[in-house]
Amino acid sequence: MREYKLVVLGSGGVGKSALVPLALLAVLSLNCALNYPAADACACPSAAVFIAKQTVQFVQSIFVEKYDPTIEDSYRKQVEIDGQQCMLEILDTAGTEQFTAMRDLYMKNGQGFILAYSITSQATFNDLVELREQILRVKDSDKVPMVLVGNKCDLEDDRVVSKNEGQQLASQWGGCTFLETSARKKINVDEVFFDLVRQINKS
Ligand code: GTP
Ligand code: MG
Repeated sequence: MREYKLVVLGSGGVGKSALVPLALLAVLSLNCALNYPAADACACPSAAVFIAKQTVQFVQSIFVEKYDPTIEDSYRKQVEIDGQQCMLEILDTAGTEQFTAMRDLYMKNGQGFILAYSITSQATFNDLVELREQILRVKDSDKVPMVLVGNKCDLEDDRVVSKNEGQQLASQWGGCTFLETSARKKINVDEVFFDLVRQINKS
């Protein structure tokens, strides 16, 4: 069975654990999108539409306001992508420094990486440079499926990292995908994970 091992990285408090449950749901709708492309939307059976509605309701109820630092959480889910049964594994890592000893190991095992910062914290943005270098070093490659994510884009008034800075960093990283997201407002979360799965399929 094809496996997708995705790893979500970034400093403490940027919103990794808020994004991951949405990611699992994103992949569910990816199945639906792949099986029933938009142009063929009316062929999508009502069961799928029903699931989509349920999903939206579920997603609306899972954003957690309280900050509870992660040690390490991993999610495994069997999903169907493009008619193929796949095992999706998402590792939600610790941003807090004292829990980062396992980094080399999960970087070695991971196939695709989400590097997340918060648009409200310059330090979380700066921290990603070193994390990316560590990934490339551990994987001994400069072509690793990766998405740069500026989370908390709902907090525009508290923004300190401009969109342009994010775009520039992504282009320095060989044109890696860059997206601003909000786990709170469910903005762009699906796109992050769709893009990463596509990158892994191409690699
Ligand atoms: P560690 O596990 O310590 O590495 O942190 P984390 O990156 O997993 O952060 P977490 O998902 O726990 O979120 C930290 C805080 O930010 C929580 O209070 C969340 O409710 C909040 N948060 C997460 N994403 C967003 C977002 O998109 N917008 C806003 N406004 N708040 C968010
Ligand atoms: Mg967390």
